[in-house]
Formats: sequence, C-alpha cells, structure tokens
Amino acid sequence: MRLLVLGGTGFVGRAVVDEARARGDEVTVLNRGHRPPLAGVAALVGDRTTGSGLAALAGGTWDAVVDTWSGAPRAVRDAASALAGRAGHYTYVSSRSVYADGAAGAPLTEDAPVVDASPDGGDEADYAAAKRGGELAALRFGGDVLLARAGLILGPYEDVGRLPWWLRRLARGGPTLAPGPRDLPLQYIDARDLAVFVLDAAADGRTGAYNVVSPPGHTTMGELLDIAAAVTGGRAELRWTDPDAILAAGVQPWTDLPIWLPPGPDHDFMHNGDVGKAVGAGLRLRPVGDTVADTWSWLQTLPGTPPQRADRPPVGLSPDLEAKVLAAA
Ligand SMILES: NC(=O)c1ccc[n+]([C@@H]2O[C@H](COP(=O)([O-])OP(=O)(O)OC[C@H]3O[C@@H](n4cnc5c(N)ncnc54)[C@H](OP(=O)(O)O)[C@@H]3O)[C@@H](O)[C@H]2O)c1
Repeated sequence: MRLLVLGGTGFVGRAVVDEARARGDEVTVLNRGHRPPLAGVAALVGDRTTGSGLAALAGGTWDAVVDTWSGAPRAVRDAASALAGRAGHYTYVSSRSVYADGAAGAPLTEDAPVVDASPDGGDEADYAAAKRGGELAALRFGGDVLLARAGLILGPYEDVGRLPWWLRRLARGGPTLAPGPRDLPLQYIDARDLAVFVLDAAADGRTGAYNVVSPPGHTTMGELLDIAAAVTGGRAELRWTDPDAILAAGVQPWTDLPIWLPPGPDHDFMHNGDVGKAVGAGLRLRPVGDTVADTWSWLQTLPGTPPQRADRPPVGLSPDLEAKVLAAA
C-alpha cells in the first residue's frame, strides 16, 4: 500500500507509520519537520495552519491517507479536499469525545448523538467540537472515509503522559495512593492496536464511524497498577483508597490521577463504550501487561523526562497532595 500519514512523528501517527513499515508499505509523512522521520519514510514538509501548508502534496497519489489532526477542523477540510480523487481511502483519527454529554449512560454505540460542530471551524472549537468538526471535514474527501473514534490511548511514545506518570510514580516507590475500587473496569487502546485496526480497515475499504477501544473491562485499575508496580521494580506499596476520600481531598480525577475516573457517569462515558462494531470488524487487542511493560521499556530509553504535548496540560498528582490523602485515609 502507498500510504500518506498527515503527521506521523508523535504518538498515534508514529505507531501507524511503524506498523505500515512492518507491513512493507511505502510510507510518506507530511508535517513541519520538527522531529526526524522514521527510517525508510519519505518526508514532506508543510505547516497545515498556513495557506501553502499542503503544497508539498502536489501531484502525489496514494492508496490511503491517515490524518491524526486534533486542532482546528479547517486543516482537515483543506487536506481532505486537496486529496479528493488522489487517494483511495481517508482515515481520520477521531475520538469518542464527539458524543454529546447528554448521551452518557448506556454503552454508547456509533449512532449516539454527537456534539454540534463545523468542518470550517477554527481554533475556537473546544476538543469535542474540534474532533467532530474534523470528522465532518474528513467527509469532504468525497470517497471512502473511516472515522476511527478512539478513547483513552496508551502505549510507547505516549505524549499526554498518563501511563508514563503512573509508571514513574510507581518506580519512585513507597506508599502510593491507588484510587479504588480495585476492580474498576477500564477501557483503552494501545496505539499499536489502533494502528493495526486503521490500516486493516483501509485495506478492506471500511467506511463510517467505529469506536476503536478495548471492550470495557479489558483491564481493571487493580490489574493495571499491580502490573505497573511489578514492572517498575516492586518498590511501590499500593494503598487502595475509597473514591469519596480522594474526591473530598480535592484531587481531580483523570488529570491528577490519570486514567482513573470514579464510578459514575464520567466513568461510564469514558470506560463503558460499545465496541461491538469494531470487534466485529476484526479489532485485536494485546494484553495490558504488554502495553505497560513496553511503555516502561520505552521510558527507560529516554535521556530525560518523557515528551509532553504542548496542547495538553501535564497530568499527575503532587507528592504533597498524595501524602495528605494518604494521611487522612
Ligand atoms: N491521547 C489520547 O488518549 C487520545 C484519545 C482519543 C483520540 N486521540 C486522538 O489521537 C490523535 C493523536 O495523534 P498524534 O498527535 O499522536 O499524531 P502524530 O501524527 O503521531 O503526531 C502529531 C503530528 O502532527 C504534526 N503537526 C503538528 N502541528 C502541525 C502543523 N501545524 N502542520 C503540519 N503538521 C503538524 C507533528 O509534527 P511537527 O510537529 O513536526 O509538525 C506530528 O507529526 C489525535 O487526533 C487525538 O485527538 C487521542
């Protein structure tokens, strides 16, 4: 397959490039060139926020395009329009954040209501509107379009910092706040499994929206932290703590304690989506132990702190607040 990845040097796009190279695909990336492309990849340079940002694509044709854009929808609109008739398939890496808040409750299928958004939207769009606007913009491609609605994405090269924060905290050891309940079901996808799904779907000509995360309960908070504590040296002593005590101390779920949401509507929204359609289309998931161990192996290769996306706030609990919660429990 001749594949064009718009992006391709961060986290998800990088995983797509890696998987495509392993398949023997011919891969081209387009980005600003802030990081070197992976070996064997043709690198085109352009800034998608500028009028001439897609000039390097001129004359090119591809079997499939994967677009990882998460900013203003109009950048997706311009790319999808420019590539119409010059590529066979267009995947937009979207998000389950597109579902309207009021849709929380039952496991959400791809038919659940979505937020209002415009394909012509600019930087004013919040994340949900940017992703939904990106979906509408991708449809300007006109041909086969796949909307891959990922949820929480983990794995090596993660640049939001969620699993990296937990791994580094557990490696530090000592009494460690573990947000309960232990059997809290989690739903996520390893970026490498997302890459496999997206490339298979492109090859099979799949179109439309797919929720692309694990089935709910692929792992639990308890299993995730037990494995993470073990692979980081077994120095952490997990102190399982009731959600109410954590919330009463002013700890913010999801951001202070990444991945974790207490039982309730937000947890159901994030960790209880319906993935029957993607599973039926062949979605395969590696065990959580592989995701955790491989992410830790990657972290250990880094000379300094892990990469952090500039457009997302850093995550993690301060040692002071953690000590306060543990002392009160
Ligand atoms: N993390 C999660 O849990 C989660 C959950 C659901 C969905 N998602 C979605 O998953 C996707 C993650 O993608 P990713 O960021 O990991 O993709 P990526 O393709 O690996 O990295 C982002 C790419 O965009 C390029 N880029 C940034 N600004 C640019 C510009 N102005 N013009 C051209 N290229 C530019 C970057 O290179 P340069 O800097 O060199 O330009 C980089 O190659 C996003 O769409 C996100 O919304 C994430």
